[in-house]
Amino acid sequence: MPRSHPGPRHVAGAGSATVTVRAPAKVNLHLGVGPLRPDGYHDVITVLQAVSLFDDLIATAPDAAALDGGPAPAGGSSEGPHGPPADGHPDGRASLGPDGDGDGDGDGIVVTVEVTGEGADPAAHGPATTTPDVSIVPTGMDNIAVRAAHLVAEAAGITSARVHLALTKGIPVAAGMAGGSADAAAALVACDALWQTGLDRATLAELAARLGSDVPFPLTGGTALGTGRGERLTDVLATGEYHWVFALADGGLSTPAVYAEFDKLAEGRLRTGPTPADDVLAALRTGDPAQLGAALVNDLQPAALRLRPALRRVLETGRELGAVGAIVSGSGPTCAFLAAGASESVDLAASLAGMGVTRAVRRASGPAAGARVVEGAATEGVPGPA
Ligand code: C5P
Repeated sequence: MPRSHPGPRHVAGAGSATVTVRAPAKVNLHLGVGPLRPDGYHDVITVLQAVSLFDDLIATAPDAAALDGGPAPAGGSSEGPHGPPADGHPDGRASLGPDGDGDGDGDGIVVTVEVTGEGADPAAHGPATTTPDVSIVPTGMDNIAVRAAHLVAEAAGITSARVHLALTKGIPVAAGMAGGSADAAAALVACDALWQTGLDRATLAELAARLGSDVPFPLTGGTALGTGRGERLTDVLATGEYHWVFALADGGLSTPAVYAEFDKLAEGRLRTGPTPADDVLAALRTGDPAQLGAALVNDLQPAALRLRPALRRVLETGRELGAVGAIVSGSGPTCAFLAAGASESVDLAASLAGMGVTRAVRRASGPAAGARVVEGAATEGVPGPA
């Protein structure tokens, strides 16, 4: 539960403060999916690994001049009407009023946001591409990082504050690599640091789970087992470093649409529960990429392939080029290839990029660290409670 706080806090500007947080993408090493639950979700047993593709979030509390009505930063804002409130989740997760903080009292939490670039180095990863690009990332209350900032304020009892979130996307957008979830995790950590709320890790994880099934994991990073909707995490014993190549596709795939397709495919089949992850867990203990590659499972893959048949060819190509494992990443449409080692991943990425079956490729290694402050943890000028 959120720690108790003495009463409403007003965070006023006594100088600007900035915190930079970096959060990782993920790949599902195992995604076992059970039948549709009455609440519209599916029980899953998943093993997640954080990989070294990152979104950077710079959170800035503006100075007193800006708070007093100075020029607002560029980008969208959660103040005022910016699309429908983000409520309506079947299990009572983030339910935000018009002001976004959940209590519907119209108080003064103002979150502005701007989103730039995929952030990857084109020389290292192949030619820069534009679809789907960051312009599809929403900048109002539909942006999950904005909702995360409001949730931190609510949990800490902050009733008045202003924060600008500048997101630099290194994680491919709408790719099945949990980029939006990484942004939300980054915003939780950044606002906690910026506002000195002192929320403990368990509380941040609880807020993360309210924002989305995939949000707790980028807080933690590493390699973890996820159950429930995927939000209940436990550490797993994993050794070694794994080298991945990701093949990015044109256009995104909607997670609900892929789950709906999964339901269609599963219709009439007796299903007791999600496939257990024993093989992947055993492989992770050995640290052997070939063993892990052979054990990768994604129960959503047949559904993703039904919706995007061209991905079949991408997976085949990666296997032919020597990947020790090939799988659709989460709900897709990115395909994830596990290489035997670092140099093999360089060769695989180069060959795959030259085959013309994919929009772009990215190399990454895992496990990577969870969302963390990389700059600006010092609190000089950070406003305290008024
Ligand atoms: O939790 P999140 O909002 O990210 O989930 C997006 C959608 O994905 C859900 O509305 C649901 O359709 C689907 N989903 C699911 N079972 C899960 C996680 C997600 O059916 N365990």
